[in-house]
Amino acid sequence: MSQVSPNVQWELGEVTLGLREKLNGHPALVVWLTGLSASGKSTLAKVAEQRLFEDETAVARLDGDNVRHGLCGDLGFSTEDRNENIRRVAEVAAILYELGHVVICAFISPFAAERTFARSLVPEGRFLEVYVKCDLSECKRRDPRGLYAKAERGEITGFTGVDAAYEEPTNAELVVDTGLLDVDATAEILLGAIAGRLSESTAITTGSGATLAGGRASTNSDAAKPGPAGRWQ
Ligand code: ADX
Repeated sequence: MSQVSPNVQWELGEVTLGLREKLNGHPALVVWLTGLSASGKSTLAKVAEQRLFEDETAVARLDGDNVRHGLCGDLGFSTEDRNENIRRVAEVAAILYELGHVVICAFISPFAAERTFARSLVPEGRFLEVYVKCDLSECKRRDPRGLYAKAERGEITGFTGVDAAYEEPTNAELVVDTGLLDVDATAEILLGAIAGRLSESTAITTGSGATLAGGRASTNSDAAKPGPAGRWQ
């Protein structure tokens, strides 16, 4: 959904992302966890959220099971609905990013194109794609809510890994295998990668040459133009 209604314009605020980052003492970041159901995305997201919060990081968490209770409660698991699910949550993640947060997103997000879309909404270097890898056999063994068993009995159709596809990431910044490492070890690796990004300069969003990987925005000199091109101040 790329169209914008006529007669709408982007309203720039005085409280810029740069000011928010300065107040927070760290840059904003989107951390995108993708992987099969029961791979450990939600567990990892919660641990990372808690640790970042304890470190006084401005952190927010979005989870597939949670957003499907409200924002995406009208969506099921067809390809179209999954794509719409990711479109909406990617936009929410971008809004939270604009508000200066480290946004931890935990979604199966089975399709590469939708993950690329999510990446395109924030500047290059401000999106950390994490493949929470786990063998399907191990996910089925864990099956914490019995969903794989239901899917195999045909009681749920279109279940990722059973009769719906999962496109493995090929360009994730980080891959963690939760079948090989326990939660603590995996969380340490993830938090290390996040810390690396947070220790980088905030110049990406405060400088004059902000670029977006997917071309949604170009430079700050576009700020006067309508639409999200001037979103990153
Ligand atoms: S996504 O494919 O659109 O990214 P999302 O992460 O929001 O999925 O939701 C996945 C969660 O919904 C799973 O963790 C599981 O609890 C539940 N679920 C219910 N039905 C399905 C299904 N058909 N396929 C995958 N997950 C399902």
